[in-house]
Amino acid sequence: MRTINFTLADGTVRTVEGADGESLMRIALGNDVPGIIGECGGELSCGTCHVYVDAQWTGKLPPQSADEADLMDMMDSYRPEASRLGCQIRACAELDGLTVEVAPDN
Ligand code: FES
Repeated sequence: MRTINFTLADGTVRTVEGADGESLMRIALGNDVPGIIGECGGELSCGTCHVYVDAQWTGKLPPQSADEADLMDMMDSYRPEASRLGCQIRACAELDGLTVEVAPDN
């Protein structure tokens, strides 16, 4: 299991665990993390899994696909340096301890 830290809108941090290969969106839903909806089930059509990745982790993430980048561009709260979709990031050894902030537009 891998540890993921979700910073919530009120500033509190929820530390949860997920299995290798499980997306941040699925991990959040399975642990009742507020603010992550995952409305489309990870099909890159809703943006309700938007997170801001902590700066110390951004270099360890897999690159965005063109479809993820296109959806991010349409979001009001998009931050180019930090925004990612939680359904596109999967738990793994390299991301054990990852910290993300739940975006306000979910
Ligand atoms: S769950 Fe819909 S875009 Fe991630």
